Amino acid sequence: MAEKTKRILVTGALGQIGSELVHRLREMYGGDGVVASDMRDRAPAAMTDSGPFEHLDVLDAEGLAALCRQYEIGQVYHLAAILSGVGELKPDLAYNVNMTGLKNVLDVAKEMKMSRVMVPSSIAVFGPSTPRDNTPQETLLRPISMYGVTKVGGELLCDYYWQKYGLDVRGVRYPGLISHTTLPGGGTTDYAVAIYYDAILKGSFECFVSEDTVLPMMYMPDALRALIELAQAPSQNLRYRNAYNLTALSFSAGELASCIQERIPDFKIIYKPDYHQEIADSWPRSIDDSAAAADWNWAPEYDLGKMTDDMLAELRKRLKDEVVSG
Ligand code: NAD
Ligand code: SER
Repeated sequence: MAEKTKRILVTGALGQIGSELVHRLREMYGGDGVVASDMRDRAPAAMTDSGPFEHLDVLDAEGLAALCRQYEIGQVYHLAAILSGVGELKPDLAYNVNMTGLKNVLDVAKEMKMSRVMVPSSIAVFGPSTPRDNTPQETLLRPISMYGVTKVGGELLCDYYWQKYGLDVRGVRYPGLISHTTLPGGGTTDYAVAIYYDAILKGSFECFVSEDTVLPMMYMPDALRALIELAQAPSQNLRYRNAYNLTALSFSAGELASCIQERIPDFKIIYKPDYHQEIADSWPRSIDDSAAAADWNWAPEYDLGKMTDDMLAELRKRLKDEVVSG
């Protein structure tokens, strides 16, 4: 086990990934060993009761450095970011948080000689000129969204800090993530989470991408395991420091709806594509993640049916008081 004495800092810990990753890391390293942080203050009791939670805006470089010194941070999982949908509405904010926030984290990690920084990238690094099927690890990165631009810039920055300063930075290009604990923060793949909530709560769903839109996706248990397995992989095995292609499954919005209809026969869906459609159409339909499989034995566990069974079961438990009967 790495880092017995120094603590792990998680930025953006109240988001879709962080709200689950913090608990997984605390199971592994102890509650005190993992400092959760976010610029939002309202952390759930489960997070504040199980270990430290601190207010932190990653744009505040001095506050970030002070927090890292106070807690003797040795590793960072840097999750604070603005995602693709919100990023198109607020491009300046996306640029600042995703680029300057990342640079602040890399700088403090370099200065404190931290042992590792984990930085998720995204399939948003790809664009219309990238092959959309079985998208290779090394290919054209010409995104059309501000989010994608910052993710490409972020990958290059991570590469630079590894090559120039030897900082052990590692990353994955996550596909769309599906989970039932915390709603996603404003991305293009969010429809694939919202559809499960509405199927249970309303029996119907209005989808912001078209029926035939195919995107790569992953269930959260696979996503958490991927990041932790990559963090634990021997450094010398890793050929890529910007980020590894990663995927679990690819489906269209229509195929996801059919899978839910097999389990909730009355479920209805209508398609009303909006500004998210252009982003979705510029992203891959499927991903070649053979480099991750070769370098750190990546393999997903959840397919569409298994994920849907689990999502519906977990959400029914959580939302049981809100479900309209009849
Ligand atoms: P999210 O939007 O759910 O959470 C991001 C968190 O960052 C939020 O809690 C927000 O309050 C916080 N935040 C925003 N600005 C901040 C700032 N200035 N300082 C501190 N905190 C700030 O995002 P997520 O889905 O948990 O994503 C985490 C990382 O994974 C991001 O880098 C994202 O690009 C990447 N990623 C996510 C997905 C996905 O489908 N969820 C897919 C690909 C990549
Ligand atoms: N799920 C993310 C988004 O849609 C992909 O990075 O923004």
